[in-house]
Amino acid sequence: MSKVTVVGAGNVGATAANVMAIREVADEVVMIDIKEGVSEGKAMDMMQTANLLDMNTRIKGVTNDYEATKDSDVVVITSGIPRKPGMTREELIGVNAGIVKQVTESVLKHSPNAIIVCVSNPMDTMTYLIHKISGLPKNRIIGMGGALDSSRFKYYLSQALNANPNEVEGFVIGGHGDTTMIPMKRFAALRGVPATTLLDAETMDKVVADTMVGGATLTKLLGTSAWYAPGAATAEVVEAIIHDQKCIIPCSALVEGEYGESGLCIGVPCLLGKGGIEKIIEIELNEEEKALFAKSAAAVRKTNEALPC
Ligand code: LAC
Repeated sequence: MSKVTVVGAGNVGATAANVMAIREVADEVVMIDIKEGVSEGKAMDMMQTANLLDMNTRIKGVTNDYEATKDSDVVVITSGIPRKPGMTREELIGVNAGIVKQVTESVLKHSPNAIIVCVSNPMDTMTYLIHKISGLPKNRIIGMGGALDSSRFKYYLSQALNANPNEVEGFVIGGHGDTTMIPMKRFAALRGVPATTLLDAETMDKVVADTMVGGATLTKLLGTSAWYAPGAATAEVVEAIIHDQKCIIPCSALVEGEYGESGLCIGVPCLLGKGGIEKIIEIELNEEEKALFAKSAAAVRKTNEALPC
């Protein structure tokens, strides 16, 4: 029996739960929210698709009842407020830090062995906060941002290349922020052919720039933060863990010397499996990438300074 809890049944949490259920990532998915009836209603709505979609996952929704989350293998934390148009993710820290702290303590009381996937923003800082307050080993705390940013990078690459997004490779490291993420253009490829040979420098730079503000672009269009790709990216990370896939997904991890940085959580390629982050993969960065990573780490560290602990 595998069990996943999603804390926060808002747009991102509910989408993550729905994608996990449809893909049968776990036997049971529990959604928990503070708003009376919302989790219950969304869970019931999703369960009414079971026969339509030939879905075998059991989805349960509860209000504030952490007992129902007991013995989860993975807990996804999406709690907190999303950004509004014109806001940065970093501006959410004051409100979200308190919420994430309280949620982390509650989930660990009932699932002391769970792996935690952090989605709440500012994501790198919230992931770091969970480390600080939980004392869990570093492999069990994972920030989701890089999975989402990499998917957006592949989307923009596919648009520029006029290609199927499934045939495009690409990944993003660094912070999950409009100015801190680093789409790795050197490794982007279409069926193994370097994208840098297929796109001119100007087009590639636009792909990178569009990726970096990918979340803000959607927030402006939607009036709130996006949810389909954030939810699906979360499900991808959970699936890699529960199904012990040993795949490499960029995630926010506590670095201890990797990429020349320590004492913060930041996006790096991670080998994910049933142990959570089983390994941080270190790739050789060139001088330009090293400088971007150092700058990104400095910005994330600055945001971390605003943490209450
Ligand atoms: C985004 C939010 C979830 O990038 O951070 O859409």
